[in-house]
Amino acid sequence: MTETACAFGVKDAEELARTLLHPLTERWQHTAAVAVRAEQLAGTVDAADREILVAAAWLHDIGYATATHDSGFHPLDGARYLRKRGVSERLCSLVAHHSGARFVAEARGLTSELAEFPLEVSALSDALTYADQTVGPHGRPYSVEQRMAEVLDRHGPESPQAKAYSTRAPYLLSVAERVRRRFAQYSQR
Ligand SMILES: [Fe+2]
Repeated sequence: MTETACAFGVKDAEELARTLLHPLTERWQHTAAVAVRAEQLAGTVDAADREILVAAAWLHDIGYATATHDSGFHPLDGARYLRKRGVSERLCSLVAHHSGARFVAEARGLTSELAEFPLEVSALSDALTYADQTVGPHGRPYSVEQRMAEVLDRHGPESPQAKAYSTRAPYLLSVAERVRRRFAQYSQR
């Protein structure tokens, strides 16, 4: 892959993610596995978007790193951190909105803050979300259903994740269906 498709290339993204997340062993293992998953799904997006998909996969959870903490909502904090570093708006927005973050933002009262970043609805955003939703803690492969259950279990019944479940779960399942269909079409070529 070349590094000309986005302002912040895959190697830059991997390096930044490693620096920020390596101390968080479980999150780092998850991130590295999501990046591998994104590479596997690259055929489901336009050729021009394949590099930004993998870069976004490396960066999607950097908002968990202490150095990026701001609002306490990791998609927003990661995107704000990247924006301050001059990373492309598209990449920032993919991080901000990955995995249906808008549904959790609403439950946390952070809708207007997240709206600092435009929402992209595309095969690219779907592939990023599907990659994240099929990798669990420590980088273990999960089904989307297992991952949704794991998130609920980890955050608890009173969490914003639980409050957002009724709107976020159907969205994640619809993403999974679209990505699986694109992957099947791509594999038949
Ligand atoms: Fe993640």
